[in-house]
Amino acid sequence: MAAEKVYRASTTAPVNIAVVKYWGKRDAKLNLPTNSSLSVTLSQSDLRTLTTASCSASYPASEGDSLILNGEAADVAGARTQACFRELRARRAALEAADPSLPKLSVLPVRLVSENNFPTAAGLASSAAGFAALVRAIADLYELPASPSELSLIARQGSGSACRSLFGGYVAWRMGDAADGSDSLADQVAEASHWPEMRAVVLVVSAAKKGVSSTSGMQQTVATSGLFQERITNVVPRNMEAMEKAIKERDFAAFAEVTMRDSNSFHATCADTYPPIFYMNDVSRAAIRAVEAINTAAGRTVAAYTFDAGPNAVIYYLEKETEAVVGTLYRTLGEIDGWKAVTTQSLNSSVSLDEGIAGILKAGVSRVIMTGVGEGPIKTEEYLVAEDGSPVKR
Ligand code: DP6
Repeated sequence: MAAEKVYRASTTAPVNIAVVKYWGKRDAKLNLPTNSSLSVTLSQSDLRTLTTASCSASYPASEGDSLILNGEAADVAGARTQACFRELRARRAALEAADPSLPKLSVLPVRLVSENNFPTAAGLASSAAGFAALVRAIADLYELPASPSELSLIARQGSGSACRSLFGGYVAWRMGDAADGSDSLADQVAEASHWPEMRAVVLVVSAAKKGVSSTSGMQQTVATSGLFQERITNVVPRNMEAMEKAIKERDFAAFAEVTMRDSNSFHATCADTYPPIFYMNDVSRAAIRAVEAINTAAGRTVAAYTFDAGPNAVIYYLEKETEAVVGTLYRTLGEIDGWKAVTTQSLNSSVSLDEGIAGILKAGVSRVIMTGVGEGPIKTEEYLVAEDGSPVKR
């Protein structure tokens, strides 16, 4: 008997870090947000998920859909993953119904194998890259004629922030207002090449799993914070407009101010949640003071901090300011993992931080990740599932 064909598609997908934050769901089942958000897609040379999707009539039906993540079997039974599978299968089934000559892939179990190129110990949320890669890989496996925006609708149901990882560069997630979520999708505000000088350095403060997950944290905020109404009604719409303008005009000072203000506003609504949620800690606050000292010394805004649902600081800056920004951090933190090409020359224009701040940072930051703005998902011939359907051992 001829061996059944194994169909495969592989893709990589990026991490994104929001500069106007998504925080709050108006519909938890469809994963619809209470506000629009905007992010910068980070370079996949530093941070990416590689996922191979495969299916075959030779995979036992009893096996069902499966996922191996970083070498270990992972759960695909969750409602969000199931929603992604269901949406993608429905689209494939429609193609098969319209063209009976197509192989009936929609009825076969899907095997997924996925790997991150960054250590889990980096403490970075990888769900955005993970769901974006899952959706893109299965869409390619099924040869769906779907645009990145259409796929963002599906990835959104996996994890909200994942919808923004279907694009490179500067990406907005428009909240939409349709009850069925059909207009809650991502679009590209600008290509990475529009403003390629954008850099980010992540100060990894803690690799520990976060205390309150974003999913439950944002629901507590929606339910209990009074400040939250002000944020979604006035603050975010204003920040979205100002941020899009700053990006279009490549105005770093404006970009930075909105980024810092929006992070502050998001964490203020966390503190206003009852009981309060604290994602930032003393090390995070020392990072804020360091950015302020760097900007004061430069006499203009050269760096911008932002924090997600954890204590890690992401600091945006432009390449030409590497010396002022990275030089100061390097001088403060010393030899830890993650520095790239930090020259002694860069130390010349670095700032000497207040001893207290420097001490807290030095004791609390375990590693750094240096990266910059990057591209969206990339199709690749690198497969994590072999031609016979078995996972590739690495
Ligand atoms: C603080 O996308 O992880 O990073 O939709 O429940 O999976 P779910 O939430 P998630 O939330 C991300 C929150 C954030 C801000 C942002 O990325 O916009």
